[in-house]
Amino acid sequence: MKIFVTRQIPDQGIKMLKNKKYQLQIYPKDQIIPRAELLKSVKGVDALLSLLTDKIDEKLFQAAGPQLKVVANYAVGFDNINLEAAKKRKVLITNTPAPEVTETVAEHTFALIISLAHHIPEADRFAKAGKYKGWNPNLLLGADIYNKTLGIVGMGRIGFALAQRAVKGFKMKVIYHDIKPNPDFEKEYSSKLVDLPTLLKQSDFISLHVPLLPTTRHLMSHQQFKLMKPTAYLINTSRGPVVDEKALLVALKKKQIAGAGLDVFECEPLIDCDIHDSLALKNFDNVILTPHIASASLETRQAMSRLAAENIIAALEGKTPPNLAK
Ligand code: DGY
Repeated sequence: MKIFVTRQIPDQGIKMLKNKKYQLQIYPKDQIIPRAELLKSVKGVDALLSLLTDKIDEKLFQAAGPQLKVVANYAVGFDNINLEAAKKRKVLITNTPAPEVTETVAEHTFALIISLAHHIPEADRFAKAGKYKGWNPNLLLGADIYNKTLGIVGMGRIGFALAQRAVKGFKMKVIYHDIKPNPDFEKEYSSKLVDLPTLLKQSDFISLHVPLLPTTRHLMSHQQFKLMKPTAYLINTSRGPVVDEKALLVALKKKQIAGAGLDVFECEPLIDCDIHDSLALKNFDNVILTPHIASASLETRQAMSRLAAENIIAALEGKTPPNLAK
């Protein structure tokens, strides 16, 4: 059986595949595989281990050939894959929703919340630039987190793990918005389901945890930013296009919101869609940017690696993979 892996990933899953004596080929360069090379490399493979940066569509299935059984995406999200085209060709699609991902992304999201509230990156830059000239009662005044309201958009696994940290660890109040209510969560965390406008008006921190779907693209746009408190922060560790970045830049410029913490970007891998525009995320001190690393702990990336391998092995052995993308 032939497997192609589109970029080097942490080794545990790779070892599992090698132990099975599959013919394994890994794209050797440490970069996103160019589309033409991807289409060439998938020819004749039985399984493909893909990344969220690889577009998996009808053209790719054609290039691979009818023997392709499974595409194991090394990510929880699978908005890079055309599920309809896969279904037509009976190619199984899997993802890696390891419990470790949930915890690590919740941690990173919380790190962004604390860093925004306490101006951590700005303070670091200030101190390293030699600007500290003695204790000053007004220096870099931030905001407290305790007693504040965290609005979680999307109460799935990661939203839930974030709420646990907020309520149990940081004495925050949590409200949430989702397409379906979660009564057990509401009871245990004294939380309530609200509509999006209410969440936007009441929250001090708003964190997005929805998949990228036609219905969630630009969920946060001009109208939504206008509803936020001028002291509130937006945090996005889901997918870039959930936020209309042009609208975010306008909101930041007009000081309609206090700032933002972003791990994902609308025009990824570009941080700013228009690199020549001076109205750019990178020019705001009250915006913290991390390069899509919310799940980037070694433990979690190894867990994802094992899960991707388990999914491939199951599919190649004619079993149902544990993490079918639906
Ligand atoms: C995912 O899993 O979808 C993340 O964006 C990368 O870990």
